[in-house]
Amino acid sequence: MDRRLFLTYVGSSTAALVAASSGIGALTGNAMTGDHLMNGQPSGKGKPLTTPFKPLSRTWENDVVLPNGYNYSIIASYGDVINSKGEKFGDAADLTVYFPIDSLKGGNNSEEGLIWVNHEFPEPDNYMKMLGINESTFKKENLANYPELLKMEKEAVGGSVIHVKKEKDGWKLVVDDTYNRRVDGNTQIELTGPARGSSYVNGATSVVGSLGNCSGGRTLWNTALSCEENTEYGDDYGWPNFIDNHYGWVVEVDPFDPKKPVRKHTALGRFSHENTAMGLTNDGRVVVYMGDDKSDACFYKFISSKKFNPSNREANFDILESGTLYVASMSQQKWIALDHATNTKLSGFKDQADVLTNARAAGIAVGGTKLDRPEDVEIHPHDGTVFLSLTNNTGHGNFHGQIVRFAPANGDHASESFTFEVFVAGGQQSGITCPDNLHFDSKGNLWVVEDYGATETNQYAAYKNCGVFMIPTDGKEYGEPFQFASGPKGSELTGPWLTPDERTLFLDVQHPSTWNPYPGQTFGRSCLVAVQGGNFK
Ligand code: FEO
Ligand code: CA
Ligand code: CA
Repeated sequence: MDRRLFLTYVGSSTAALVAASSGIGALTGNAMTGDHLMNGQPSGKGKPLTTPFKPLSRTWENDVVLPNGYNYSIIASYGDVINSKGEKFGDAADLTVYFPIDSLKGGNNSEEGLIWVNHEFPEPDNYMKMLGINESTFKKENLANYPELLKMEKEAVGGSVIHVKKEKDGWKLVVDDTYNRRVDGNTQIELTGPARGSSYVNGATSVVGSLGNCSGGRTLWNTALSCEENTEYGDDYGWPNFIDNHYGWVVEVDPFDPKKPVRKHTALGRFSHENTAMGLTNDGRVVVYMGDDKSDACFYKFISSKKFNPSNREANFDILESGTLYVASMSQQKWIALDHATNTKLSGFKDQADVLTNARAAGIAVGGTKLDRPEDVEIHPHDGTVFLSLTNNTGHGNFHGQIVRFAPANGDHASESFTFEVFVAGGQQSGITCPDNLHFDSKGNLWVVEDYGATETNQYAAYKNCGVFMIPTDGKEYGEPFQFASGPKGSELTGPWLTPDERTLFLDVQHPSTWNPYPGQTFGRSCLVAVQGGNFK
């Protein structure tokens, strides 16, 4: 179909497309309306929003483009040295979690803190250029003959803890030996939970490395959760002795204590983890919402057995080691427990460790709804509704995705039932496409980044470079996206995170083609930037 016609078609019939592609529309017959989701407060009738910035238009400009009055500074790029050991900031920056430096004392310092950054994948093509390896003759089967390349690949992934400070001329990386450190493809990581030591992880109680670290989140006790998403690259790039099931978990890191072991929590299941959104049930247990970023994969939540202890940080460190994993059935509007002991539909699995290690198959076996790439999830700060990005599913003809809003029954995250509605549908009508990472400001505006690859001729051409949008969740502009930023060519902007004073927005620029080039090379470098200069709410 002609591109313009196609966009018109998508723009004018988004709801129909949603129905046809994801199955959601077909299921909304008995879903409640927005009024119910908003606890009786009709959506779209609140105060008009005063947008704190003049929205951008789509652009192909090869830079981080921001509204008038805002500026950015690069805090750290791939290859920057972060401590005296010579450890370097990794590649493919994703998730940024900002921890005020005084977090453990309950502080909200917005000018000095620690940041956990994910490093999603290595870029071997770039490293071959740096090492002078001839790409055309290189074969992954021979990777062992190129130890420097393997080393670069393993050191590029995982995540970084970095100390950052706001100076007069922008935010700076503090090269620091107390906090700054790397978790990478070589780090020894403990397994916890039911699959630890099981045959499904080859009997391992600890594993080597963290891979595919996409998004994640912050726990209520100030640790970072890093989600292992597309970990198959270990295999694809020919890493020797690669054991698949050692990856695809949620990893917990304490940024404040380098001595505390890094852990992978098997109780949260193994799939292509995109991110975590943590909240509390009405009786004080921890809920973690999680997407499985793959076409036709499910939406999950974990509820801990133990209650959160707000007055004793250490008491919370084992909370994610035991609990119940649930999968969402959209047709029943119910969470179904992935519990081997009680659910006969799981009889094809040997035990709970099997269910958790193969949580995608288990989710589908019990009737979890296959969705259109469930990626980032966030909990609304005011009403507790849960927002989930469905990025796209080209196999269903869903090129632009949507953001779905869930309301747990009785306003309790422990509820086994929920209602839902489409909050924003991607496409020409809304002007946004392929929603990925989400972040709320304190007013309840949703900040959304996009993930697609536009060329001048493909179906994303009209959208140009990937952007960042702010979408009000109340008021007259309810559900209307306003563009705040546009990324350099070839890049995806990831990891939006505001400081507590909401004067700085951190963003990662992932895989830019040529922007921020590596010294002496022409390829662009992923990096972490700080955006300042104006208001964000
Ligand atoms: Fe790594 Fe789902 O984006
Ligand atoms: Ca992502
Ligand atoms: Ca993505």
